[in-house]
Amino acid sequence: MCKLVAFLIAAGALVAQPALTLEQKEDFLLHAKIVKTHGAKKGVTGTTRATLSDGQITHDASIQTIDEEKRKFETSHGTEFNFRDCYKFNVAAYRLGVMLGLGDVIPPSVARNYEGHGAAWTWWVEDVQMDDQDKQHTKTEPPDHNRWARQYQVMKVFDQLIYNTDRNMTNILYDKNWKLWMIDHTRAFRTSKVLLNGKDLERCDRQLLEKMKLLNEPDLKTELNKWLRPVEIAAILPRRDKIVAYFEGPGAAKVFDHVQP
Ligand SMILES: Nc1ncnc2c1ncn2[C@@H]1O[C@H](COP(=O)(O)OP(=O)(O)O)[C@@H](O)[C@H]1O
Ligand SMILES: [Mg+2]
Repeated sequence: MCKLVAFLIAAGALVAQPALTLEQKEDFLLHAKIVKTHGAKKGVTGTTRATLSDGQITHDASIQTIDEEKRKFETSHGTEFNFRDCYKFNVAAYRLGVMLGLGDVIPPSVARNYEGHGAAWTWWVEDVQMDDQDKQHTKTEPPDHNRWARQYQVMKVFDQLIYNTDRNMTNILYDKNWKLWMIDHTRAFRTSKVLLNGKDLERCDRQLLEKMKLLNEPDLKTELNKWLRPVEIAAILPRRDKIVAYFEGPGAAKVFDHVQP
């Protein structure tokens, strides 16, 4: 073995980390110790990036403590009433994503206290090559445009379901394989029973549609009641009904067969 390779192995640089299941990642996020903290580069809500280790695995997490409510809030797209920006929505979006088969495009997120505050600890997405802002600024074209478009359309349907008011371009990440990851859902789950923007329903993955149809109040309550208020849970199914009505009615031709993202 050449000296360089031996050195890199000794330094841990070439030792592949085992592929973990979602449950193992959640467990790691809940129990691993912080070995270092860094600030996250982009964003506005004071996200902390931390390197965690459980003695075997070392991986980063994004820690969000935001928990604010305002009766009236001015956003870049207008005035929002009953505004809520809450780390719990990050956990809720991940849990709902898992119910819908989107657990491999929304990084695992768990609730764990940080410096005496409630917080969402979210798995740091590996090998991010750029976010959607960088992609647009640099006019980078993904190698497979159709695959990229399908991933984007799935995200848009999910955002209508969760009434996400903050899918800005820095909350869409592309890894080195051009997989699209959705992050930062702290401004979602409004109590509105109508869609934020019905025009965003362009196309839908058939598997996502079928899984949305299976959602029901008891399951949503079981999965989400720690993270969402009853009125926030109660608004999901009426929005789901509108999405399903569109893709089973006028938008039926816009449903595509499921492809691994
Ligand atoms: N889980 C993650 N994996 C990789 N990068 C992340 C992750 N979470 C946050 N980031 C990076 O940090 C930035 C800010 O974090 P974000 O969660 O969006 O918080 P903010 O509310 O401040 O926008 C993101 O735009 C992204 O570049
Ligand atoms: Mg953000």
